[in-house]
Formats: sequence, C-alpha cells, structure tokens
Amino acid sequence: MSTTTVKMGRQGAFMHIEWTDEHQTGHPVIDHEHQGIVDIINRLEALVDSENATEIGEVLCDITDYVLVHFGHEETLMQSIRYPLFDQHMLSHCQFFSSLTQFIYGFETGRVGLIREIQAFLASWLVQHESAEDKLFVNYLMRHQAGGPGP
Ligand SMILES: [Fe+2]
Ligand SMILES: [Fe+2]
Repeated sequence: MSTTTVKMGRQGAFMHIEWTDEHQTGHPVIDHEHQGIVDIINRLEALVDSENATEIGEVLCDITDYVLVHFGHEETLMQSIRYPLFDQHMLSHCQFFSSLTQFIYGFETGRVGLIREIQAFLASWLVQHESAEDKLFVNYLMRHQAGGPGP
C-alpha cells in the first residue's frame, strides 16, 4: 500500500509530492495521468535552486501540455455520462489554467524566482483537486458504469 504526502521543501517555499493511496481515484487511466503530472511537478524541485531558466521553461511547457491533455480526457469522460457537476469541475480546470498561465507569464518576463511559488501552487492545487473533485467524479463514473444512481 502506497502513501501520499506533500512535504514542504527548504525555505517552506516548494513542495515535494509523494504518491500515496490518498491520491488514487481508482480509475487506472486518470491515476496514471495524475502520477505523470506529479512526476513533472517533482522535476521542478531539482531545478528550483539552479534557477536555470531554460530547463525550467521546458518543464513548464511539459506540465502545460500534459495538464491540457489530461483535463481534456476528464472533460470528455464527464460529457459522455452527462456528469451533473461538469460545469463546476470544468470551471476549476479553467481557473487553474488561468493561474498557471499568469505564473508562467511572470516567469517568462524575468521573474525567475517565481518558480518556487509556481511549484508550490502546482503541488497544492493538484493534490487538493485530485483528492477531492477528481475522486468525486470517478466515484460517480464508477456508479454510472455499474448502473447505479448518481451522487
Ligand atoms: Fe485530474
Ligand atoms: Fe479534474
């Protein structure tokens, strides 16, 4: 049995995510993609002190691409079963993406030190979202697939 924790890093500014059962939604594809997101976020940890703008920029591109694809997968699944909390869940995805875009803009316009805040934001938001909203959706999806009632 695995365990999930989010550890505060040095200076309390960034967080290392360890994948645990708490993060699991129970949907193999979604969990696999969440693990991929966590891996990318943790890649940032090694770069925070280096302040290597080129490498950090590459990781930020990777996380942006990966998250966009993942959100798309979730939203397609939600629409396929007419998930009643679709609008609310999609709004969360949009708000996250808007914040991420603003952070990246700040970073790319010279605020390299912003990377600590970006890493902490990514870690805390995604852990919270995966453990709450995504889990709620997967529970509904599984009940739907089993022919049971919704939430
Ligand atoms: Fe997700
Ligand atoms: Fe989600």
